[in-house]
Amino acid sequence: MSGLSLHRKLEEHVGLLIFGILFVSSIGGLVQILPVLEQESLETPAANTRVYSAVELTGRDIYIREGCSVCHSQQIRPLIAEVERYGPYSRAGEFVYDRSFLWGSKRTGPDLHRVGGKFSDAWHRVHLINPREVVTESIMPAYPWLATRAASATGDIRAKLRALQRLGHPYTEADIDAAPEQLAGLQEIDALIAYLQMLGTGLPAEQTL
Ligand code: HEC
Repeated sequence: MSGLSLHRKLEEHVGLLIFGILFVSSIGGLVQILPVLEQESLETPAANTRVYSAVELTGRDIYIREGCSVCHSQQIRPLIAEVERYGPYSRAGEFVYDRSFLWGSKRTGPDLHRVGGKFSDAWHRVHLINPREVVTESIMPAYPWLATRAASATGDIRAKLRALQRLGHPYTEADIDAAPEQLAGLQEIDALIAYLQMLGTGLPAEQTL
């Protein structure tokens, strides 16, 4: 078969042409993606990175439910401007216990990856209930209902931990059994603040350059 007739065949059969286009364009993607999947740093936690506690995990689910990542990214790029504004750039090993990732791509508000420890719990509480009380010009929405709902109402925490355990996160049976008690008496806002306060704390001090 000459080259010309093969070309003709491809052009005349739409299905074949689409397959050919997908095949050729996927090569570039695979060349970039496959080697990265083998990288150990994607599976090895950074030195201080640990699994989320029951309370933090609940806070993380609230963060997802309320759409915080629509306005906030959680990834600091290795660029001087970003590092000076937000702190040490993000490392792959800090995200091994994130399912799913909340890197985000929209920054209507500041990046939150290193927000842990930046403000007091009390500041976060006021800010979440009404951002304008602490940042006069803020356009962030208010989330007053977080202070009125029980953290335990966000779902079966034991089931969530067990699902993550199956995926290889090192939760013990004792962790899972103790989880509901850790949520007892807490409001959703407490869990969300616990989550915010641990964001970006997974990197050992010697690497925080
Ligand atoms: C409509 C966009 C928008 C949404 C949605 C949003 N924020 Fe914000 N956020 C902002 C803006 C703008 C700022 C900067 C002004 C301020 O501090 O209030 C901000 C600031 C912050 C800060 C302070 C960060 C810093 O370093 O100064 C935190 C913490 C925060 N937001 C958490 C949250 C959480 C948690 C949620 C979800 C419950 C959320 N935000 C939802 C826009 C948003």
